[in-house]
Amino acid sequence: MSPLKWLWSYMGKRRFRLIAGLVLAAISSGTMFVNPMLSQRLIDDVIVPQNTEPLIRLLLMMFAVQIARLSLRYVMVILMELSSTDVMTDIRRRMYEVVQNQDYRFLNRVRTGNIMTRMTSDLDMIRHSVAWITYQFVDAVVLFASSFTFLMFVNWKLALCLTAVTPFILLLSRRFVKRIRPRFVLLRQKLTELSTRVTETIDGNRVVKAFAREPFEQERFEKHNAKYRDTSIENALISAKYQPVLEFLSQILAVVTLLVGGIFLIKGELTPGQYLSFSSLTWTLAAPLRMLGILLADLQRFHAAASMIMEVVNSEIGIVDKADSIQLIRPSGRVEFKNVSFDIDGAPILKDVSFKIEPGETVGILGSTGAGKTSLVNMLLRFYEPTTGEVLVDGVNVNRYTLSSLRRRVGLAMQDVFLFSDSVKGNIAYGRPQIDEESIRKRATQADADGFIQRMQDGYDTLVGERGVGLSGGQRQRISLARALAVKPAVLILDDTTSAVDSETEQYIQHQLRTLDFPCTKIIIAQRISSFRGANRILVMDKGRIVERGAHEELLANKGFYHHIWTLQNNAGMAAMEMGQETGFSPETELKQATI
Ligand code: UTP
Ligand code: MG
Repeated sequence: MSPLKWLWSYMGKRRFRLIAGLVLAAISSGTMFVNPMLSQRLIDDVIVPQNTEPLIRLLLMMFAVQIARLSLRYVMVILMELSSTDVMTDIRRRMYEVVQNQDYRFLNRVRTGNIMTRMTSDLDMIRHSVAWITYQFVDAVVLFASSFTFLMFVNWKLALCLTAVTPFILLLSRRFVKRIRPRFVLLRQKLTELSTRVTETIDGNRVVKAFAREPFEQERFEKHNAKYRDTSIENALISAKYQPVLEFLSQILAVVTLLVGGIFLIKGELTPGQYLSFSSLTWTLAAPLRMLGILLADLQRFHAAASMIMEVVNSEIGIVDKADSIQLIRPSGRVEFKNVSFDIDGAPILKDVSFKIEPGETVGILGSTGAGKTSLVNMLLRFYEPTTGEVLVDGVNVNRYTLSSLRRRVGLAMQDVFLFSDSVKGNIAYGRPQIDEESIRKRATQADADGFIQRMQDGYDTLVGERGVGLSGGQRQRISLARALAVKPAVLILDDTTSAVDSETEQYIQHQLRTLDFPCTKIIIAQRISSFRGANRILVMDKGRIVERGAHEELLANKGFYHHIWTLQNNAGMAAMEMGQETGFSPETELKQATI
C-alpha cells in the first residue's frame, strides 16, 4: 500500500475535519484574486476617470473580503492542527501498542533507538505532512488555477504568455523528485543508525566505561554523525542545484509582465488597472511553482518516514489471543512439555523436550550457558511458541489461554533483572498493583529483601531503576523475586535468580520458598547445584536437549554430566582434572564448567 493511501485509510473520521480545513484553504486561496480585481476597478473606475462615487463602496468591499479571508484562515489552521495532531497521537498509540504486544523476535530485530526515531521524528513528519503539505499543495494549486482563470478573463494573451514557462518548471520538478527520493530514504536510514548508536552507548554506558572505550565510542559516533552530515549536505546540494533554476524560471514571469504587459499597456490593449492586476498577481502564479520543488521534496520525506511507521504499525503481532481463548483461573500448577522443539530462524534451540511437573513440585534445571534453559521457560509464558510439540498448564495447551491470564498465574523472575524508575514498593507491586503494604513486606521478607530495603534511605519508598539509587546485582535479584512472589503465582520460575546472592542468603530463600503460604509449582534454573536443594527432580540440559533427569542422588549415581558438574563444584582444581579424564570431557568444556 502506498503511504498516502495508508494514511488516508488511517485517518478515518478525521478525514472530514481535514477536508473541511482544506476546503477553507481552497476558498481562501481561490479568492486571492478578488482584491487585485477590486484594485483594478479602483484605478480604472475611480482614479483614471477621477470619479469618487464608487470609492467608499470599493474600499468597504476590499476590507470585508480581507476580514472574511482572515477568519477563514483562522478556522482552517485550527482544523488542520486538530486533525494532524489527532492522527499523530493515534498512530503513536497504535505503535506503542504494537511494540508493547510484539513478541521477543520483533524486539530483538528492531533496536530501541530505531523505534524511538520512528515514534518521534518520523511521526512528526506525518503530522507535518497531514497539516502543512496538504495545505500548501491545495493552496498552490488553487491559487495558481484561480489567478490564471481570472487573468485569462482580463487578458488571455498576456495570461498565456505568462504560463509559457510552466512546462519547463514542471519538467524540472519531476527530475528533481526522481533524484531526491532515494536520498531521503538514505538520510532517514542514517538518522536511525545515529540514534541507535546513541541509545546503545547510553544504555551500555557502564560497559563503555568499564573497558575505557569512550574514545572508541566517540569515534564510532563521530563516524555516524559525519555520515549523517554528509548525506544531509549531499541532499542540500541536490536541492541547491535545482532550486535556483526553478526560482529563475518563476522570476521570468515578472519580467514577462513588465515587458509584454508594458507593450500591451502602451498599445492600449490593457488598461492601467488591468496592468496592476497582472503585476500584483504575478506572484500568485510564480509562488506555487516555486513551492513545487519544496513540496515535492517534503512529500518524499513523508514517504520515507511513513514507510518506517507502516512497517511497525502493520507488522504482525506473532503471539496473540485466539478467538476462543479461555481464562486460566486458579490453576493447580501442573506443567507438561510434550515433545517440544523450537527453532529460531532455522537454528534449533530446543530439541524434543518432554517432562512433567506435578502441582507443588520443585524442579531444577541445570545446563551450561546457551543450553536453552531460558528459552524453555519462555515457552511456558508464551513469549515464544514451540515449532512443534505442546506446552501444557493444567493439561491444556498454553496457547488456549488468554495471554494475560496465563502470565498472571505464571510468575517469572527473569535472568536480566529490570527495575522500573519507581519506588521499591512500586517495583514489587508491579504485577499486582492493588496489593497492600503488609503483603509487599511479606513478599520482600520471603525474598530476603526486607532487611536491605529497610536500611535504604526512604525504605520501601526509595526510588530505584534508571533514575534511582544504585543496587547490587543480588539486591536487584531479590527485588525481582519479591515481585514474582507478589502475584502469588501458581507456577513460579526463577531464572538464575539467586546467582548473585551468597550461599547463606540462598539457603534462607530456599527455606522461604519451601514454606510459601500459597500452593505453587517451582521451576528453578541455576548453574550451581546448591540452588537445587530440596528439588524433587532436576533436569540437565545440553544443547537444547534434556540429557539427564532425576533426583539429586539418582543423578549422582549415574556418574554422568551432573555428577561431573557436582564434582567440579565441590572440589575444584585437581579433582576436576581427574574427573575430566575419567568421564571423557574435553578440557575446553571443563574450563567453562569450572567457572560456574
Ligand atoms: P537460552 O537463553 O535459552 O540459554 O539460549 P540459557 O540456557 O538460558 O543460557 P544461560 O545459562 O542463560 O546463559 C539458548 C540458545 O538460543 C539462542 C542462543 O544463541 C542460545 O544458543 N537464542 C536465544 C537466540 O538465538 N535468540 C534469542 O533471542 C535467545
Ligand atoms: Mg538463560
